[in-house]
Amino acid sequence: MSVVLEIRNLHVSVDEKEILKGVDLTVREGEVHALMGRNGSGKSTLAYAVMGHPSYEVTEGEILFNGENVLEMEADERSRAGLFLAFQYPTAIPGVTVANFLRAALNARRKAVDPQDKGISIPEFRKLLMAKMNFLKVDPSFAGRYLNEGFSGGEKKRAEILQMAVLDPRIAILDETDSGLDIDALRVVAEGINSLIGPKLGVLVITHYEQFLNYIKPEFVHVMFQGRIVEEGGFDLAEKIQEQGYDWVAEKYAALEGK
Ligand SMILES: Nc1ncnc2c1ncn2[C@@H]1O[C@H](COP(=O)(O)OP(=O)(O)O)[C@@H](O)[C@H]1O
Ligand SMILES: [Mg+2]
Repeated sequence: MSVVLEIRNLHVSVDEKEILKGVDLTVREGEVHALMGRNGSGKSTLAYAVMGHPSYEVTEGEILFNGENVLEMEADERSRAGLFLAFQYPTAIPGVTVANFLRAALNARRKAVDPQDKGISIPEFRKLLMAKMNFLKVDPSFAGRYLNEGFSGGEKKRAEILQMAVLDPRIAILDETDSGLDIDALRVVAEGINSLIGPKLGVLVITHYEQFLNYIKPEFVHVMFQGRIVEEGGFDLAEKIQEQGYDWVAEKYAALEGK
C-alpha cells in the first residue's frame, strides 16, 4: 500500500485567532503537489501544524500519516516514520557538522524502519554522502561545515535538500524552498528536488513564487485564500496564476473575507 498523508478539515489557531478554517489535502507517495497562495493566506501555518509546532493549535480536524495520527507523534517520530519537513532544523547547531547531523538523522530513521539496525558505519556513510552530494552537485567541503552556521539562504536550502536525499522520506513538505534564492540557486534546488521525486516520494511544495513551479512541474495544484483551499487543479492552475496573479482569486472568494 502506498504511503499517504491526509489532512482532513483542519482548523488551526494561533493566539486564539483562527488561521486555517477547514483544510483538506491528501498527498500520496509518488505525487507532486503545489500549495500556492498570497502571503498571509495560511500556507506556512499548514506546514507548522503538520510539523507540530507548539504555537499552532489544531482546534478541529485531523492529520493522518498512513492512518496514524500525526498530531500524537513527536517531531522526531514523524521524521523516522518517513515524513520530512524541510525546516525541521532551521537553526544553527553549534559544533555539529552537516555530515554528523545527517548520519545521526539517518541512523534514527533506519532504526525506526528496523529496530535491529546497528546504524551505518562512518566509512559507509561517507560513501553514501559523497554520492548524494555528487548527485546534487554540492561541494564536498560542505559536509565538514557546521550545520547552518554562516550558511547563505541558498546553502541552507541545499542542506535541506541534501538532508532529504540522505533520509529518503516517503512524503516531504517543502515550505518556501524558493524564498530568498537567486535564479541560479533556485534552479539547483529545484533540480535537486526533481532528481529525488519518484514513485517512492510524495512532495508538497509550498510557494507563492510560481516561477519555482516551472522547474518542479506539479501534477496537483491547490490555491489557498484566507485559510481555505479555494481552487484545485493541475499544472494549468499554476500557469493561470503565473499569468494573472492572485487578484481573480481574491475577487472570486471575496465573500469569504473575514469569515
Ligand atoms: N506565529 C504567529 N503569530 C501570529 N500570527 C500568525 C503567526 N503565524 C501566522 N500568523 C498569521 O496567520 C496568517 C497566515 O500566515 P502564514 O501561514 O505565514 O501565511 P503564508 O505562509 O501563506 O504567507 C497571517 O495573517 C499571519 O499574520
Ligand atoms: Mg509562508
